[in-house]
Amino acid sequence: MSESLEDIANRMVVEGKGILAADESSGTIKKRFDSIGVESTEESRRNYREMLFRADDAMRNYISGVILYDETLRQSARDGTPLAELIAAAGAVPGIKVDAGAKPLALAPGEQITEGLDGLRERLKNYYGLGARFAKWRAVIAIGGDRPSWNCIQANAQALARYAALCQENGIVPIVEPEVLMDGPDSVHDIDRCYEVTEWTLNTVFDQLYDANVALEGMILKPNMVVPGQKSGTSASVEEVAAKTVRVLKSTVPPAVPGIAFLSGGQSDEEATAHLAAMNAMFDLPWKLTFSYGRALQAAALKAWGGKVENEKAGQSAFAHRARMNSLAALGSWKPEMEREAA
Ligand code: 13P
Repeated sequence: MSESLEDIANRMVVEGKGILAADESSGTIKKRFDSIGVESTEESRRNYREMLFRADDAMRNYISGVILYDETLRQSARDGTPLAELIAAAGAVPGIKVDAGAKPLALAPGEQITEGLDGLRERLKNYYGLGARFAKWRAVIAIGGDRPSWNCIQANAQALARYAALCQENGIVPIVEPEVLMDGPDSVHDIDRCYEVTEWTLNTVFDQLYDANVALEGMILKPNMVVPGQKSGTSASVEEVAAKTVRVLKSTVPPAVPGIAFLSGGQSDEEATAHLAAMNAMFDLPWKLTFSYGRALQAAALKAWGGKVENEKAGQSAFAHRARMNSLAALGSWKPEMEREAA
């Protein structure tokens, strides 16, 4: 019998594990590879990702699921094993990014709408056949000037809900990702503005999910944390970020949702870990709180690898280290000293 949506969702947020977001689109992975001077080709992308998925210690102990890009879900390792099979063999759930990216929202300067609903039902059936058991759709909400508009929040929330319903219809757990960006240009984008916009966004998303008949037990939320904008000229302590993030989530996310897996969104590796650890250590929570990091799990591994076969072991241990630190954060038992001890 096929696994229920609820069982898959619970497996994705199982105690002490989190999700590796390795679903960079061709454009984004090129930017990452440019930063280490490596040409982005089908083969270099495969080699890099195969290195991560073969990092046995990290994958078996700390990673519950991996989000893939279309190309990767169709790729095989050097020995011919499909990459999705490597992931499943390590006990993690293979997932797939299904949105077609954020495009300019018409008549709404500076705002974006995520596309990709046309033909999604057929694509989901195909992805299921290739082994994907969860999916991801990312909406972006920018803060700045008089943005975001209700138009932008509503249109993105409705698209997220239509996507989530299509996933569940096809036996796939939707990761619902409404990201309030932290890199807006606005000086008024302090932590309280982020709180306000995150609250508005999440309330609208859960309204739309209800209207679309989405079963909350069979989905995972992937939100931003409540942080000050990078260009706001303000900062916030780890405790303040943890307290405000938990407060906004408690006031908007029903306890029927099994888990919340944060994006890192441009936070440094250690900030992303420290914030997650503080939330789990300081608060009693109705859902699992874990990570679904892209950059904050991969930046060190990417650098250590540098595109060279002889550096694969070093890349794997850099990845294993970040994965272990974030696993400890998900358990609420990470301490800054642990970073030094390991190094
Ligand atoms: P970051 O953790 O790098 O923000 O990426 C997570 C992700 O999947 C964004 O869609």
